Amino acid sequence: MPKYSAAKRSDLKRFLIVLAVAVTIPILLIAPSSQSQSASEVKRAEEEMREVMRVWSRQLGVTCLTCHDTSNFRSDKLAAFKVGKKHMKITQTLIDNGMDGKKSPKADCFMCHRGKLKPDYKEPPHPLTQ
Ligand code: HEC
Ligand code: HEC
Repeated sequence: MPKYSAAKRSDLKRFLIVLAVAVTIPILLIAPSSQSQSASEVKRAEEEMREVMRVWSRQLGVTCLTCHDTSNFRSDKLAAFKVGKKHMKITQTLIDNGMDGKKSPKADCFMCHRGKLKPDYKEPPHPLTQ
């Protein structure tokens, strides 16, 4: 009976599809978490972080020591580290709100700091309005 075997074949096909999905989904779910970052990925992330830090230092006109106790780069002991972390978020907020380098300049530390740790931010007195 050709009709019967065709139905069987499509049943088999459906079964195989279900089986494939059932096997693939757990693998996809497990794979990223069980496979920790490879050594080269860690190294690349570190290199990128160092590059960001070199840019910050240049844009503020300081060295790493202004923000870091070099025995522990994660330490937030220094005030400049804490302010730097806040300003990193401010800068990201500006980027997220359109200053992303597409239609307007991309926000960065230099935009406000201009190579100085303490940028002038007060408008100087004006003779007409004083
Ligand atoms: C303006 C302050 C500032 C300067 C200058 C600075 N850093 Fe940082 N650095 C930070 C902050 C804030 C973080 C944390 C960033 C975060 O939480 O994503 C950080 C993170 C790091 C980290 C990652 C620490 C970790 O393991 O989580 C390294 C490494 C580092 N800095 C190295 C440097 C080096 C090297 C320099 C000089 C070239 C430098 N930094 C200059 C503020 C600074
Ligand atoms: C929207 C403007 C703006 C941006 C962008 C900005 N800053 Fe600032 N930052 C300031 C102003 C203004 C001051 C001075 C007033 C103050 O100390 O709060 C300052 C002060 C600081 C100080 C403290 C200096 C001191 O010793 O008193 C640090 C450290 C700093 N900024 C780090 C950063 C870093 C790192 C970035 C980039 C990730 C950044 N800032 C981006 C405006 C900005």
